[in-house]
Amino acid sequence: MSTVPPTPLDRSAEAPDRFEASRSAPGATPSVDEHLLAPPASPPTPGGPDRTSSAFFDSVLSARTDLFRGSREVLRESYVPSRLPHREEQLRAVAEVLAPALEGHLPSNLLLYGKIGTGKTAVVAQVRQEMMKRDDRHAISAFVYVNCGTIDTPYSLLQTIANHFAARDDERVPTGWALDRVEAAMRRLMDARKGTVILVLDEIDRLVDRSGDGVLYSLSQLNTQLEATRVALLGISNDLKFTNRLDARIRSRLNEEKILFPPYDALQLQDILRDRAQAAFRDGVLEPGVVERCAAYAALENGDARRALALLRLAAEMAERDRAKRITPDHVVKAKNRLEQDIILECCRTLPSHCKVLLYAILLAYEKRRSSVLTGEVYDSYASLVRRLGLQPLHPRSISNHISELESLGLVRATIVSKGRGGRTREITLDVPLSETLPAIEDDPVVRPIARPRVRGQTLLTNFDSPVRSTL
Ligand SMILES: Nc1ncnc2c1ncn2[C@@H]1O[C@H](COP(=O)(O)OP(=O)(O)OP(=O)(O)O)[C@@H](O)[C@H]1O
Ligand SMILES: [Mg+2]
Repeated sequence: MSTVPPTPLDRSAEAPDRFEASRSAPGATPSVDEHLLAPPASPPTPGGPDRTSSAFFDSVLSARTDLFRGSREVLRESYVPSRLPHREEQLRAVAEVLAPALEGHLPSNLLLYGKIGTGKTAVVAQVRQEMMKRDDRHAISAFVYVNCGTIDTPYSLLQTIANHFAARDDERVPTGWALDRVEAAMRRLMDARKGTVILVLDEIDRLVDRSGDGVLYSLSQLNTQLEATRVALLGISNDLKFTNRLDARIRSRLNEEKILFPPYDALQLQDILRDRAQAAFRDGVLEPGVVERCAAYAALENGDARRALALLRLAAEMAERDRAKRITPDHVVKAKNRLEQDIILECCRTLPSHCKVLLYAILLAYEKRRSSVLTGEVYDSYASLVRRLGLQPLHPRSISNHISELESLGLVRATIVSKGRGGRTREITLDVPLSETLPAIEDDPVVRPIARPRVRGQTLLTNFDSPVRSTL
């Protein structure tokens, strides 16, 4: 089987959707999902056995299409909006650094940094689209995007880059080679392309956390080793201090230019949401206060535009489920609670086993007392639960560390209190709703064998109106 070599403008390796947007042109072969949506070859006979389910689906579908103007993709993360309000300065700054590539010059290396959801990836996606449009001279031989959040080992990174430049199947780097060989193949393939390569390493801090800075050293050296190709590195990070963990030489090479993406405030988030809402919803569907509420919640959560969009999207889904004609501020409250519930579930799922049992002990004690619990009580309950699982309880000191971990995840709060005669203990309060966290942890495979019996068919309770601190 042969692969089609990437065209000069089709330059994204392992890219998320927004870097591949140019591929799904109208009239292109439908994706698997689109095939699934195609009408069945022989429709069921009216009045036949499928009538009820068909009517049921019709009613569900008709209720679902009222609010949206067209494609609901507009509210998804993968969508690249044509305007990025409040990122004009950053767009201009990135474009100014990269523009020399269009004239055949090597741009400086560039580092973009800022907290989550501040538009870093979106800005790069948009700059890339604009540069691709303007590169009539094909001065840019490749604009490679790699997300180091998923491709986070030196091997997979070098292999991904190498394979982006492989024009034929037999040039591709397989798994299982020695790292030196992969690196040499990558250099050879890159050099054969001739021109300027812009290499985007998104979530570069995760790569360094996982694998150290050795591979960045190799990449930052490329221009001294290649003959016909020059490489500009564009790192994206949301850890502002990550460069402190780099070797001084790599740091200075990567830091040639730096651009900060500050968090959005509530008013800026409103502008972002209004743009998207206008494209997504039919006129008059949004009640006053919806955009404002989504923006206010997301502004409290570090000014994260992703969060603001997720709230708006989920609020619309809540409204659809209610079969409402309009999206109201109450739908936003429900959406916020649902998002927090999802975060709690995810948080519980990723805890180490002992930590899960400890959290379960805290929840049970909390359920009984309905007020704060002390470390000592929790330890005893944890120890007996863990023994029922056939495990040895951890030392109280380790448990204390686990309590700090639960605290850093925003699940509990622990305050040191004096208990007379110089004794000190920690008082633990729950920072998430008991009604959602308890069933979530009881459903976990580690805890399930020691969990209290559940009523058959019981599902997770969703207490949409429970007050939750937005610390997660
Ligand atoms: N100024 C903006 N205008 C319109 N949409 C925006 C803007 N900033 C961010 N977004 C949208 O918010 C979402 C998150 O943005 P993006 O992925 O660029 O954030 P990020 O800074 O890369 O976050 P992370 O560090 O978590 O990767 C995307 O859907 C993006 O389109
Ligand atoms: Mg990003």
